[in-house]
Amino acid sequence: MKEKILQTVEYIRAKVDFKPDIGLILGSGLGFLADKIEDSNEIAYEEIPNFPHSTVAGHEGKLVFGKLSGKRVVVLKGRFHLYEGWSPEVIKFVIYVLNKLGVKKLIITNAAGGINKLLKPGDIVLVKDIINFQFKNPLRGPNYEEFGPRFPDMSTILDKEWTERLKESFDLPQGVYMAVLGPSYETPAEIRAFRKLGADVVGMSTVPEIIAAKHCGIDCLVLSCVTNMAAGVLDQPLSHKEVVEVANRVKDKFSKIVLKSLEVA
Ligand code: HPA
Repeated sequence: MKEKILQTVEYIRAKVDFKPDIGLILGSGLGFLADKIEDSNEIAYEEIPNFPHSTVAGHEGKLVFGKLSGKRVVVLKGRFHLYEGWSPEVIKFVIYVLNKLGVKKLIITNAAGGINKLLKPGDIVLVKDIINFQFKNPLRGPNYEEFGPRFPDMSTILDKEWTERLKESFDLPQGVYMAVLGPSYETPAEIRAFRKLGADVVGMSTVPEIIAAKHCGIDCLVLSCVTNMAAGVLDQPLSHKEVVEVANRVKDKFSKIVLKSLEVA
């Protein structure tokens, strides 16, 4: 894997003469932020050696490099979910590539179901901790000491100071993100159980990304858009259509928060 990472990084560096400081992994509805990048340079995933890419038509995947909110960024347009069949190691590979490209901070956004009844669809939650209910760890397998230790500490998984700086501009609720495998949504009994375990929101992404990033010393800030109340909270079925609609409805507010997060990074 180490050789592959280096080969991939070499290819990207040869193509794009730009060193990013901050990475962005954008969830549903926020991909358009990549179009706001100044002096952008892009590379399609499928062109990059060893890089995962979706073979599903209509699934765009590319790295976009350039300046956003005055910061040097690389955006991952298109992410890798375990429910698609990707292994957690693939996500680790992508994060390690970002690390080798120079990324020191990472903003991750996602869509999530609201478990905490004080939340409502459209709220943006600043994630303060996670529960890994995917029971898969991207760090499983040989450890590469140059990236991080075999048993990395996860007691402060998100960058508290960065979070505090963002809170000076936006008074956002904070919460615990529970990651599940998906792709089926949860049952009402599961959601009741997750609430008892201390989760505020639930989603199908983000956690492998944070674990890999934390391992190699990348500081993370995670923003969850509550696109729906989780199963059983309201007397209605869940639909992906609703998730997409709400994500689109709040995209202006959400993008302002992401741009501010970059500014205060
Ligand atoms: N559950 C899991 N993932 C989600 C949800 C949900 O209710 N909404 C958006 N992503």
